[in-house]
Amino acid sequence: MQKPDSQREKIIELLEHAGGATEDAVAQVSRETGVPEADIWGTGKFYSLIATPGKRVRICDGLTCQMAGADELAKKISDSGQAYERVSCLGQCDLAIATLTEDMKLKTYGKNETSVTPNDPNLAINLAGPVDLSYAALNKARQLGPAAVIEQLEASGLQGRGGAGFPAHIKWKSLRAQTETQRYVICNADEAEPGTFKDRETILRQPHKMLEGLAIAAAMIETTDIYIYIRGEYGHEYESINRAIEESGDQLSEFNFTVVRGHGAYICGEETALLESLEGKRGMPRLKPPFPTESGFRGKPSLIHNVETIACVPSIVHHGGQHFKDLGRTEAGSKLYCISGHINKPGVYELPLGVTLDELVAAAGGYLGTPLAFSPGGASSGFLPIEMRTLPLDYKNLADAGSMMGSSGVVVLNDTVDMAQAAGWQLEFFERESCGQCAPCRIGSRYLRRQNDDYLKHGDPIAFEHADDVAWEMEEGSICGLGMVAAKPLESAREHFPDHFKTK
Ligand SMILES: Cc1cc2nc3c(=O)[nH]c(=O)nc-3n(C[C@H](O)[C@H](O)[C@H](O)COP(=O)(O)O)c2cc1C
Ligand code: SF4
Repeated sequence: MQKPDSQREKIIELLEHAGGATEDAVAQVSRETGVPEADIWGTGKFYSLIATPGKRVRICDGLTCQMAGADELAKKISDSGQAYERVSCLGQCDLAIATLTEDMKLKTYGKNETSVTPNDPNLAINLAGPVDLSYAALNKARQLGPAAVIEQLEASGLQGRGGAGFPAHIKWKSLRAQTETQRYVICNADEAEPGTFKDRETILRQPHKMLEGLAIAAAMIETTDIYIYIRGEYGHEYESINRAIEESGDQLSEFNFTVVRGHGAYICGEETALLESLEGKRGMPRLKPPFPTESGFRGKPSLIHNVETIACVPSIVHHGGQHFKDLGRTEAGSKLYCISGHINKPGVYELPLGVTLDELVAAAGGYLGTPLAFSPGGASSGFLPIEMRTLPLDYKNLADAGSMMGSSGVVVLNDTVDMAQAAGWQLEFFERESCGQCAPCRIGSRYLRRQNDDYLKHGDPIAFEHADDVAWEMEEGSICGLGMVAAKPLESAREHFPDHFKTK
């Protein structure tokens, strides 16, 4: 018989310690936890970092790394006799090309340093600013109390920075309205959307803003249990969090922090897949409702926030909601925009929410070559033509343009890029990362990638004969956001760049 859930929650970590999903490891973990072997195989094989034991170099397949020549690098590594594997985006687009060595150490082939906005104490996160260990905002929040803090949160207009843009204060209010007193605060640091690396920089440069935001949230929803789920490939960032918890000393001693590492599955960034993963299962999104605010981790009310969202909270408490709101232009607040690709200074820039691509690129040192297209918010946002360079990069305007703000991982593509090829790279990402539980997403993502490959090989647009129908099925019949947007790169590239999809 299966032992209680607390045992199950250990299986992914135990498998990792045992060296991955091997026969011996699975049998041993089954004995230790009481979870049946078949179940452990299913879980182990789901996560790319533990599915296949053995050492190899992992080469990033993300859009920016592909544009920077990841295929040629793979050939060189292969010619040198080293074993390698192509993997989904490693979150180092500003330093492309990115790899993980056989010992899981980061090695990049582009520039060595990330550019960020210069120090400005007015900014909410201020990546280049001094580290503040005072935890003054936490103390102020305690004095103000939950009603006043949530009022400031509402006045700030803070929208979730993880992609959906949901108003933060509504979630906090919902948590407080639950009758269940066992509640959790969970920080989503799984950042794996191609083009996105803003949470990485926040964790490395301002980890205390994240910890303080989490502590304020926990105090306001009356819990002490805080989980941080960080993607497995972020080794330095994992260390940075643990170091910051130590540095905080007594300030955070009343809270129980648990930092959990992911194991290589993009879908675990989706909040309910993240919960499944925390519970030691395959990261398969749940049907909503119920929402995590009502039934989340271990079935208890859970407040889940992206790193950037939660790191804005200390500034909101400290300066008041209106100050944060005024930092924005078309929508509330300052925003961390990641930018990479064909520009001079890839990096993370904190700018008023609603700047245009031209303004963002100006902050990032200008365009490289003649710009053709941009992807405004990660692979999920598809592609827009450069003619839209003056569109405000915000939640509403991008949605109206048929795209999305998403994770604000902006990638610029110049006219050396074949848009059919670029769409193909993004399709491959979604095919690889689909969790497989919905047929339209599982089958559709593979079908579209194959049809696009077929077009790239033969140059005959007949390959796309059924693409629109398949895309519609995926949008309508998928449980989670991945399947709903997986056709977007191809759809948007065909819509905006018809010349790249003609008979060749
Ligand atoms: C496929 C998929 C991947 C996601 N990946 C992330 C992620 O890596 N980080 C993140 O914060 N949110 C991610 N999200 C959004 C989360 O589901 C959720 O909306 C977010 O963590 C809520 O926090 P927020 O309100 O602060 O944005 C993803 C959503 C989907 C559909
Ligand atoms: S849409 Fe795709 S990723 Fe999302 S639950 Fe369904 S199969 Fe999994």
